Amino acid sequence: MDFEGIIEKASNLLMDSNFTIGLTGAGISAESGIPTFRGKNGLWSKFKVEELATPEAFNRNPKLVWKWYKWRMEIIFNARPNAGHYALVELERLGILKCIVTQNVDGLHHLAGNKCVIELHGNIRRGRCIKCNYKVIFNEPPENIPPKCPKCFNLLRPDVVWFGEAIPKNELERAFNLFSKADLALVIGTSGIVQPAGYLPYIVKENGGLIIEINVEKSAITSIADIFIKDKASIALSKIVKYIKDKLTSKLYDASENEL
Ligand code: APR
Repeated sequence: MDFEGIIEKASNLLMDSNFTIGLTGAGISAESGIPTFRGKNGLWSKFKVEELATPEAFNRNPKLVWKWYKWRMEIIFNARPNAGHYALVELERLGILKCIVTQNVDGLHHLAGNKCVIELHGNIRRGRCIKCNYKVIFNEPPENIPPKCPKCFNLLRPDVVWFGEAIPKNELERAFNLFSKADLALVIGTSGIVQPAGYLPYIVKENGGLIIEINVEKSAITSIADIFIKDKASIALSKIVKYIKDKLTSKLYDASENEL
């Protein structure tokens, strides 16, 4: 099947679905200039996870961890949503996409305008006090690192989930509930390696639902995908939204013609 045919098939599945849920990973933000974690030039090929993204690393050297997060914040704070993010806003507005569960901490789905977004791994624009749990919103990367809690003056940490830490209970439960109800999972830009996020599409499959995956290369999800669109998220999602809107417009036109 040619590319246009795959887009058409995916678009029709989305239009026919009753409850589509999105799962996104770093790949959807790659075209906003935010580095992904794996694959060529991925962050984990340049930096050591155990030195930067674990509670032990933070306890050992909070300044080093904050230096790395400040560098990532500088990239993320200058990044803007791309056409892939905005296509997901359209799919939500059309009533097709019910919610997005994202592994990304960049906040770009909110910034683009999606109403229902569950941030499984937290948000780099927030800090959290290691002592009193007070949360702060950073409107720009902190000047002095490590930043201190404005309430109790203990250390703030990035409000993200590190390796070896649990996903916040509320977000996890909501994500599992949504994927348990979904009849279609739209999986975009994730290697599908990290759990429990990588397991969520399997719930839909086990319940007899469908999976559409958009990725520039195969992932741990591809083997269970009903449709695999090998392309950049911005291109594939924009084509899908255009096809759906054109189809809905022609349906409206036909309906109005029949009424006359
Ligand atoms: N369009 C679509 N997919 C893309 C694009 C693009 N423009 N660019 C890259 N990708 C794909 C890559 O092929 C890869 O499969 O995005 C995926 C990114 O995978 P990872 O870098 O592993 O990111 P992710 O799956 O989000 O990682 C999950 O791991 O390090 C932790 O907490 C971190 O949330 C992250 C989690």
